[in-house]
Amino acid sequence: MEESLLALDRQLGQLKRAGDREWRKTLDAVFDEPTLRAIQQLFSRGVLYTLENILATGKEANVFRGKTHDGRNRAVKIYRLNTATFRKLAPYIDGDPRFPHGGKSHRDRMFVWAQKEYKNLHLMHAAGARVPRPYHVHRNLLVMQYLGWRYRPYPTLRELPPAKPREFLEQLMDSIGAWQHAGLAHGDLSEYNVLNVRETPWVIDVGQGVPRQHPRFDELHARDMANIYRWFRKWLPELKLEELETWSM
Ligand SMILES: Nc1ncnc2c1ncn2[C@@H]1O[C@H](COP(=O)(O)OP(=O)(O)OP(=O)(O)O)[C@@H](O)[C@H]1O
Ligand SMILES: [Mg+2]
Repeated sequence: MEESLLALDRQLGQLKRAGDREWRKTLDAVFDEPTLRAIQQLFSRGVLYTLENILATGKEANVFRGKTHDGRNRAVKIYRLNTATFRKLAPYIDGDPRFPHGGKSHRDRMFVWAQKEYKNLHLMHAAGARVPRPYHVHRNLLVMQYLGWRYRPYPTLRELPPAKPREFLEQLMDSIGAWQHAGLAHGDLSEYNVLNVRETPWVIDVGQGVPRQHPRFDELHARDMANIYRWFRKWLPELKLEELETWSM
């Protein structure tokens, strides 16, 4: 216990020294007391051994690279407890029969949200979609397979368009078809949430995903497909949206 606290303090010190004042403010916003305690619990349970470097700062979460005891990389998504995104998440939680109690406080809702992303990853992974394998969820922390090389994540589709767009799209449609088959919609699919892993698409950021019973399922799936169509049409001008729908069936 004591030892893991010391280790955590040391790691945070290192992360902080690596940046300027803005950066330290960012870190202080992520690592509030309850979050520090939750990280410490992951350390003492042996789920994680270290936090190494930050990969991304998003609207609701920060993503870090961590390591396990046996030196394997993990991506650790830490949902911030103090950002006011409560209302934005509600439409994706309410109506999902898996989460009848959406969470009373903002903090509870972030915990439900992390659970939701974990469950969606699990279902999609089991269905054969290329998404990071989920390892652990605890409070506002999600530990998953790391998709990166050394200390950098693989680029997004937006950052690195594929060399062979049609082949890449076909593979992406396989993943979409897999989670569709499992009765899920991604809900936030776009060129920002697909990583180009050496010319193979891996899909991330699945917290918005909803099951078929959800009232917005059809709308969200249609929006996902429209986003993918819009982006790939730039590289494949002959592509038709209707044709794309049949690929995943
Ligand atoms: N499993 C992973 N392996 C490697 N890098 C990851 C992984 N998951 C996320 N990342 C990195 O973090 C970035 C943001 O991740 P993600 O899209 O899941 O969160 P987000 O966009 O911050 O979510 P939000 O909608 O809350 O802003 C990714 O673009 C990628 O660089
Ligand atoms: Mg994202």
